[in-house]
Amino acid sequence: MNNLKNLRGTVDLLPDQLIKWQNVEKIVLEQLSRSSIKEIRTPILEMTELFIRGIGEETDVVSKEMYTFLDRGERSCTLRPEGTASVARALIQNGISSNPHQKLWYMGPMFRYERPQAGRQRQFHQLGVEFIGYQSVRSEVEIIALAWDILGKLGIKELNLEINTLGDLNDRLNFQKSFLKWLNINKDSLDSDSQNRINKNPLRILDSKNIQTKKVLENAPRLFNFLSDKSHKRYSDLKNQLEVLQIPYVENFNLVRGLDYYTHTAFEITCGALGSQATVCGGGRYDDLIKQMGGPNTPAIGFAIGLERLILLAGKELEVPRNTDIYIINQGLIAESLAIDLARKLRNYDLIVELDLSGASFSKQFKKANKLRSKSIIIIGDDEAAKKEFTIRLFDKESFDNKEEVISLENDIKLEKWLSINLSFK
Ligand code: HAM
Repeated sequence: MNNLKNLRGTVDLLPDQLIKWQNVEKIVLEQLSRSSIKEIRTPILEMTELFIRGIGEETDVVSKEMYTFLDRGERSCTLRPEGTASVARALIQNGISSNPHQKLWYMGPMFRYERPQAGRQRQFHQLGVEFIGYQSVRSEVEIIALAWDILGKLGIKELNLEINTLGDLNDRLNFQKSFLKWLNINKDSLDSDSQNRINKNPLRILDSKNIQTKKVLENAPRLFNFLSDKSHKRYSDLKNQLEVLQIPYVENFNLVRGLDYYTHTAFEITCGALGSQATVCGGGRYDDLIKQMGGPNTPAIGFAIGLERLILLAGKELEVPRNTDIYIINQGLIAESLAIDLARKLRNYDLIVELDLSGASFSKQFKKANKLRSKSIIIIGDDEAAKKEFTIRLFDKESFDNKEEVISLENDIKLEKWLSINLSFK
């Protein structure tokens, strides 16, 4: 048993850590529902071909990082490395034409075989949002504002929004011709990774983190200069609308993102506090993906937030659990079974009720309730059970006497009155 451990790059999330996850998720989900965005759930396991066609065969994600295996029926399966391709597949498969405009979110585990480090895991979690069927620059602004506001609602500061435009397919083909020429002339000055990408995925070279390559790239042709008038207009409209909303941004012409499906707007939100894995959110427009995967021509835009990174950034106040409202101290055969019934009744009032199941002495159960900082306690022992009643009191030493009440198990009106006065139950 000693040798059994979780796999490298995966983590167990224990109850104490999950308090923060749950609090963060609650705030995020409230914001999504206020924005009328609906949830979609797709399988974690998909056909490998989905990601090859959707994300691009030459991307790092597909060529180096996927968890791919043959199942017992010899089908090639992959644990999803991201959610966008799956959402596109699900919509095509379930008849996107009948519902061409959809605002969707998903949350769950993703898998990439990367080198684990702080903020980077092999099994990690994403919150993704996809706006399907929306063409306008306004939809891009709404998506970016949504990501910005989710991070803001969690009190995360010092965020940096970086934007770029990748133009449309034509713009990129025009750029690629002269970029390839330039790359071949300057090949020897590039790092080996970038050299390998020249014939496979030249655009990704722009995103190189190699310092020497970055410096050489300063003199490379710029995609921006190959954009059509229409693409230029889109991009300047985007910047104008962000300014109207007072969402600060910086332009990063080297931001090309690691997945091949992007067109026009690409963006990332980073936070210095995260160290080397600074990107908490990444997204962009992907107008060609759905068509390329066999669906109708459908523009779309979306983003994903890395939840592990979000949790690292969210404040300590979110680590605090909601207090137990009532701790039921009970002992004795009849008392114990009455206590179960009482706990079920109280939970129907939407109160957090902990029933002590230890069978320990009253004083030990008191200590436990104290440690939990329960707002109140119920005591039910043999004496109370015989009279079909219980004692309820606020667990506050100062007001011990005046807040204590003996209530009959059948007197719900008296119970509700006590709860509404002392635990603000409505
Ligand atoms: P992505 O940039 O590959 O985009 O991932 C989005 C976010 O997921 C990253 O910014 C990061 O916070 C988190 N993330 C990625 N890899 C890891 C990892 N190994 N460990 C921890 N966190 C990680 C996408 O996945 C696109 N599907 C986003 C999108 C949606 N674009 C359009 N719609």
